[in-house]
Amino acid sequence: MMRLIILAAGLLALSFFFQPGGAETTASCKGQQSCTACLTAHSDCAWCKTERSEGFPYDHCDLSAVIARLCPPADIVFPRSSVEAVKNTSLSEQQSPSQPVQVAPQHLRLKLRPHERKEFEVKFRQVADYPLDLYYLMDLTVSMREDKETLVALGEPVT
Ligand SMILES: *[C@@H]1O[C@H](CO)[C@@H](O)[C@H](O)[C@H]1NC(C)=O
Repeated sequence: MMRLIILAAGLLALSFFFQPGGAETTASCKGQQSCTACLTAHSDCAWCKTERSEGFPYDHCDLSAVIARLCPPADIVFPRSSVEAVKNTSLSEQQSPSQPVQVAPQHLRLKLRPHERKEFEVKFRQVADYPLDLYYLMDLTVSMREDKETLVALGEPVT
């Protein structure tokens, strides 16, 4: 009986140009002229919608901690990345039922801010004597080369 459990860590990273923290973060937030430019500049930049006035003489775009201090809460734009399992039925045991579950989770909702990365775990277990197709979706940049090779190597014992 063949029994396999493969763990694949999905990893999405839109950019490696900026690291959180440091002077670079502040510099990249400050001076951004639109909400989109602000949220794209760095994952820790936040935007304040309040009109500039005597009461609010500050930049619209700054570090989230600064914006949290200066900006009325209702005007803060600071979306976070998230991974949420929409459907996550447990893997089937070996005695294969008529509708075996071989991959979990089955449906993920992923929200990603530019420059932020999220990891999630995908589990696979082959039910005995059941046909199998496995598809991966990944970007083919150099940073993913090792992951691609690992997945290709893992595919061999499955077939
Ligand atoms: C799916 O369920 C398993 C087992 O209940 C859990 O360990 C895992 O964290 C869940 N995955 C997600 C993305 O919520």
